[in-house]
Amino acid sequence: MVPHVATDAPEGAVPLRLVAANELESWLAGRTAAERQWLSRHGFAAKSGEWLALPGADGAVAEIVAGVERPLDVWSIAGLPGVLPAGAYRLADSPGAESATALATGWALGTYEFTRYKTGRGSFPTLIAPEGTDLAEVSRVREAVFLARDLINMPSEDLGPAELAAVALDLAGQFGAESEVIVGDDLLVRNFPMVHAVGRAATGAPRLIDIRWGDPTAPRITLVGKGVCFDSGGLDLKTAEGMRWMKKDMGGAAAMLGLARMVMDAGLPVRLRLLVPAVENAVAGNAFRPGDILRSRLGKTVEIGNTDAEGRLILADALAYGAEEQPELMIDAATLTGAARVAVGLELGATFTDDDDLWQALERHARAERDPLWRMPLWQPYRKSMESRIADIDNVGTSRYGGAITAALFLQEFTGGAKSWVHFDIMGFNMTPRPGRPVGGEAFAIRALYRLLAERFPKP
Ligand code: BES
Ligand code: ZN
Ligand code: ZN
Repeated sequence: MVPHVATDAPEGAVPLRLVAANELESWLAGRTAAERQWLSRHGFAAKSGEWLALPGADGAVAEIVAGVERPLDVWSIAGLPGVLPAGAYRLADSPGAESATALATGWALGTYEFTRYKTGRGSFPTLIAPEGTDLAEVSRVREAVFLARDLINMPSEDLGPAELAAVALDLAGQFGAESEVIVGDDLLVRNFPMVHAVGRAATGAPRLIDIRWGDPTAPRITLVGKGVCFDSGGLDLKTAEGMRWMKKDMGGAAAMLGLARMVMDAGLPVRLRLLVPAVENAVAGNAFRPGDILRSRLGKTVEIGNTDAEGRLILADALAYGAEEQPELMIDAATLTGAARVAVGLELGATFTDDDDLWQALERHARAERDPLWRMPLWQPYRKSMESRIADIDNVGTSRYGGAITAALFLQEFTGGAKSWVHFDIMGFNMTPRPGRPVGGEAFAIRALYRLLAERFPKP
């Protein structure tokens, strides 16, 4: 069952005709003179997102014509549930099995609302799933993306480290996964000193969430997500503008939770592990300071050049822990740097890996799923900008330039042991609306990643 996507056509489902601008003329040629006149009087040009109702003889809507771009993909009709009148719609032309699932998924994603603090519209028109739609897949993607969006949209007051852990444990429970959460001073006992240091000034105690699922003998896939529930910058406090959206600094954790949900729901034959260091980067008398030197889980000492570069610190301990069992593939996602946003903007996920085959497959899936990723270099010469005179490494480089690269190089130092590693520096948020993607939290990279994992580890 997918809300607003139905399987069987009720009487009177309105045909939805998808027309590309360059097909308009030939399509019009096959229509009645009255229809042609109606469409031209309304200036219908079949621009993507544009739609128009064709009146029927009895005053009812005979058909909806909607502009699209080809090839059809997940976003082609994702804007329509938000604008079409109530009712049920069916595609006038069969899109083929491949596009069917994508279109239905986009429709489902286009019905997202964050209604915890304000009543939404509640109802949306229904799409009759086109022939060949894999409804389980539509539901899987919808649930994962909505979970991530909801978590990111939650204000920090209501989604601190404890609440984030509760959500993760709930998810683990739903799929029969094993879980452990290491909280507060236990982080010191269990050797996660940097997770503790970053999170100790907050009222909500820092913690490491650890979830394991699947056949222990299957290939090990480890997901790590930055779970900074609020990033004030710490003592190196952010500006008001810089701090405004930092409730989203757990966007990597939200994405990895969504991906974990898809993998578990699909029952992929892998041994899945999810690690989320969950903290708030707060200011208090016991906050970690610029100039402090932290001893990481791995033993490397880290001089704190800036307390606002906190994500890489908590990830370093989590990545080191994950790498200890030598996973086949370790994936991390993080709203790690403003520099990544300068480099690739707000829509692309900045992707770092030394595994060329992995990147090639990822790029292919990112394009197909319209979940766009761009490769960035792990440019080793920049490592020296993080040299510290009195510690093994500094948590920031000497220059702001290439800041997403130095952050990725910092993380890489803690991934030894993993057979392959890929890092996503993501936005986690739509600042401007696009079809199917309202302003607010967004699950970056996970639709592409899920397809990659489903391809690499097909169900027997
Ligand atoms: N969470 C931020 C990065 C961020 C900022 C992501 C804006 C998305 C949008 C991160 O913890 C941070 O503050 N990074 C600093 C690093 C700097 C001090 C080296 C940054 O990017 O300015
Ligand atoms: Zn920060
Ligand atoms: Zn941060």
